[in-house]
Amino acid sequence: MSDSPEFPRHVAIIMDGNGRWAVQRNHPRSAGHERGADAVRRTVRHARKSGIRCLTLFAFSTLNWQRPTVEVRELMDLLERFLVEELDELRGNHIKLVGIGERELLPTSVRESLEHAERETAHLDGMTLVLAVSYDGRRDLVRAARLLAEQVRRGTLLPADLDEHQLSKALSTGDLPDVDLLVRTSGEVRLSGFLPFEACYAELYFTPVLWPEFDESTLDAALEEYAHRQRRFGLTSEQMAGDQLASVI
Ligand code: IPE
Ligand code: IPE
Ligand code: MG
Repeated sequence: MSDSPEFPRHVAIIMDGNGRWAVQRNHPRSAGHERGADAVRRTVRHARKSGIRCLTLFAFSTLNWQRPTVEVRELMDLLERFLVEELDELRGNHIKLVGIGERELLPTSVRESLEHAERETAHLDGMTLVLAVSYDGRRDLVRAARLLAEQVRRGTLLPADLDEHQLSKALSTGDLPDVDLLVRTSGEVRLSGFLPFEACYAELYFTPVLWPEFDESTLDAALEEYAHRQRRFGLTSEQMAGDQLASVI
């Protein structure tokens, strides 16, 4: 199933709505984030079982640093707990964990837990789980541009040789396939700086479900919808129906 064009290789999710879930229940926002962490565990497990090769989760944006200090601390604590407590499960399911984003901004203990989990799972190839933390797509593009500019300065890259492939390789998602399916929960219909280059040909799926309530059936519904979309990559439907299909995918 996972190799067919009806199935996305790379699914990326903007996990939104934790705060609203909590407020609707008169709980503190932290309760929403805790339930959100349970939804992450469920989703990772189900994605692995479903045969998704790469799952990228937007866990914390660069702009999220501007939230109240207490909430930021709670989110960092949750992230660290996830990285420590889930390590065995990740290993058991052959899941490789990769972090993207400005990790130098993370508290030391969180960064160390992230890098420990990355090292411990680096050799696994059942699925890649990418956690976007302190991530902003435009900042990642700027970082990549700096890297490439430095290569030009050193004389190892000619500006004329720079193409989409090289720019894509210089991003923090460089080794990953393009995003096929991008999901956002909570009814918001925006991308909030998530994977602007990597998801520029992704199918978009918006669901009103708040992230703490995201479960196996919500992911299945998104996969089902994806299976019925026609990705044309600039061609006509008639061309897609014909034998050009194979050359596009
Ligand atoms: C997503 O839920 C979690 C993070 C952005 C860290 P929110 O906390 O944004 O929830 P809402 O949007 O306020 O409901
Ligand atoms: C985007 O959610 C970031 C994450 C899901 C981690 P936000 O809730 O921060 O996004 P905006 O502010 O509504 O665009
Ligand atoms: Mg939000």
